[in-house]
Amino acid sequence: MALSRITVLISGRGSNLAALIAHARGGHNAGAVTQVINNRADAGGVGLAREAGVATAVVDHRNHNAREDFDAALAHAIDAAEPDLIVLAGFMRVLGVDLVQRYAGRIINIHPSLLPLYPGLHTHRRALADGVRIHGCSVHYVTPDVDVGPIIAQGAIAVLPADDGTTLAARVLTLEHRLLPAAVAWHCAGRLVIEDGRVRVRDVENDGCGALLVPSPYL
Ligand code: GRF
Repeated sequence: MALSRITVLISGRGSNLAALIAHARGGHNAGAVTQVINNRADAGGVGLAREAGVATAVVDHRNHNAREDFDAALAHAIDAAEPDLIVLAGFMRVLGVDLVQRYAGRIINIHPSLLPLYPGLHTHRRALADGVRIHGCSVHYVTPDVDVGPIIAQGAIAVLPADDGTTLAARVLTLEHRLLPAAVAWHCAGRLVIEDGRVRVRDVENDGCGALLVPSPYL
């Protein structure tokens, strides 16, 4: 079977992109990252993609006055690579409704919170301010509303008493690097089914027994 072609959209350092490339090249994935698009020519992830021999394209939002123009340029760049799947990995622009609908069921996003908690920005800071005990990340299909689509997978960690925004973000990020490649691999293998707005992962036994109790009552 041909490998699924994956286009990754980034705006920054690209550590999730690196995790995706490594996972796919390790033979764990029915997909391959074939294109990286960024909206900033100076995004760190661009160099990373080049080093990995992946085609890159820049679609700079600052060159487009209207959102429709930016979205049209983005669609043009995406379509040139004929991807089966589009992954938003730290892409800091909101996509217009038409663009999202054009690729419905084929766009995945990684978000650094346990959605539906903390959509949008500054998730770690907001989690700390609320005093939550558990925080994490979510991978979901993209729908026109930001950070709202069907959730594929989530990863959770304990918030430690000494945590600040930096330490919490770092621990969540290591989870992201495990969760996103797994979700992408499932999609590429055709194992994800959206039913009534919820995602079912085919051929996974109920493995939800890894309970996280914080603070642990067993201490
Ligand atoms: C990640 O925390 C991701 O969840 C969020 O933006 C960050 C991107 O980090 N959407 P990186 O560029 O993948 O290192």
